[in-house]
Amino acid sequence: MRYGRALALDGVSLTARRGQVTAVIGANGAGKSTLLKAIMGLVPVAEGSIRIRDEDRTNAETRDVVADGTALVPEGRRLFGDLTVEENLKVGGYRVRRSGGSAFDEVMALFPELEPKLRIRAGHLSGGQQQMVAIGRAMMSRPRILMLDEPCAGLAPIVVQRIAGLFGQIAQSGTTVLLIEQNATVALDVSHHCCVLETGKVVLAGRSDELRNNDFVAHAYLGI
Ligand SMILES: Nc1ncnc2c1ncn2[C@@H]1O[C@H](COP(=O)(O)OP(=O)(O)OP(=O)(O)O)[C@@H](O)[C@H]1O
Ligand SMILES: [Mg+2]
Repeated sequence: MRYGRALALDGVSLTARRGQVTAVIGANGAGKSTLLKAIMGLVPVAEGSIRIRDEDRTNAETRDVVADGTALVPEGRRLFGDLTVEENLKVGGYRVRRSGGSAFDEVMALFPELEPKLRIRAGHLSGGQQQMVAIGRAMMSRPRILMLDEPCAGLAPIVVQRIAGLFGQIAQSGTTVLLIEQNATVALDVSHHCCVLETGKVVLAGRSDELRNNDFVAHAYLGI
């Protein structure tokens, strides 16, 4: 994947499995957001392929990727600050892919703390609550694949714990979770597998419990 002549992703290979949290960690500019944009069909893929549930989705139309069940929680949340929490959530549910039960009730079960805030403008919430709305909005489409771009960035540790604790739960309910994080400690704690991305290349990948004990990861990403 290139921006003009600059190569942003180069030979990246990773697999995210159903029922698991797969994490991608990497520093600023490593290509993490570009990877998610490529999967969403938001930037062109020049070489290689993207497969979703055994179907080739390389350079697919974004609306088809979404309709097929992939939801993105974008970097910086991108809520409609002037709309209420409820309205923001409903934006995500305009097209509910899978039937059965109420997506709205499921989101309220994930984030009971949003219930008293439903009529408040999203822009007036705390950062952590806004992140919950952003994740809730994505979950309103009952996605098969949930991709999150640095959902814990800028949040207080206790809020990070609350939010990161949900990813395993969401994965267990049958959703494939692809988590992008700069916070390697959190990413390794909540994921089954993890890839380390450096300037567009996967430099290391494996089981998260093993990577946590890897000298390179400990030194470069965990500050140990
Ligand atoms: N629209 C663009 N045009 C040109 N170059 C871009 C564009 N978007 C990103 N890049 C470059 O591509 C590389 C990867 O960027 P990307 O946003 O994917 O990184 P990232 O890992 O998500 O970083 P961050 O942690 O800051 O979000 C960087 O060198 C960045 O400067
Ligand atoms: Mg990014």
